[in-house]
Amino acid sequence: MLRVDDVCKTFAGGPGRDDLEVLRDIRFQVENGEFVSIIGPSGCGKTTLLRILHGLEPPTGGAVFVSGKRVERPSPLSAIVFQQFNLFPWLTVSENIAFGLEIAKFPAEECNLRTDRLIDLVGLQGFGRHYPHEISGGMQQRVGLARALALDPDILLLDEPFGSLDAITREQLQREIAGILSRSPKTVVFITHNMDEAIYFPTAFW
Ligand SMILES: Nc1ncnc2c1ncn2[C@@H]1O[C@H](COP(=O)(O)OP(=O)(O)OP(=O)(O)O)[C@@H](O)[C@H]1O
Ligand SMILES: [Mg+2]
Repeated sequence: MLRVDDVCKTFAGGPGRDDLEVLRDIRFQVENGEFVSIIGPSGCGKTTLLRILHGLEPPTGGAVFVSGKRVERPSPLSAIVFQQFNLFPWLTVSENIAFGLEIAKFPAEECNLRTDRLIDLVGLQGFGRHYPHEISGGMQQRVGLARALALDPDILLLDEPFGSLDAITREQLQREIAGILSRSPKTVVFITHNMDEAIYFPTAFW
């Protein structure tokens, strides 16, 4: 499903700054329906790798393939749940979730139907018309998840989705995501720097 072939990434330093090599010869494969955790300390290049997997960032060497096709730009085949939510502050919860559907030119009725279903799925009933600053961090992360699921991607890329949440919310959201993924299995790449989470979270599906 996902093949990472000798991916390298060096950020150019620019005037007065050294180049920064972040990734060197990263090579792995993720099979269809597999859940892979990637663990590493802060600053080691996890987000950079995920952005490359999604086509948001070009590698400086090597290549990424999804179902045999080279990834060169973001596509609906994969979706990211970002570390810092990255919601549009000027859009409501519903509008944030519907954004990708509208870009993909889904008819308005289908957009509304899917958005309502996703709001139910992530437990945000009654908050569709709220703006991101009016909901909690855990709820914003649920919006991020709903937005990622909106186009029903084959591959879900999770970038420390629980990193900024308190322990209770984290556990609750872990259970909910595990429930959602066991009902609608996906190929998942899960980034964390927490060893327990890297092990516990995938096992929650079985
Ligand atoms: N656009 C960029 N330009 C230059 N350097 C960058 C850029 N993005 C990331 N870096 C650098 O690449 C390194 C890895 O960053 P990255 O965000 O991938 O780390 P991370 O493993 O996700 O860390 P964390 O666990 O703190 O989220 C860092 O040293 C960072 O400064
Ligand atoms: Mg990161």
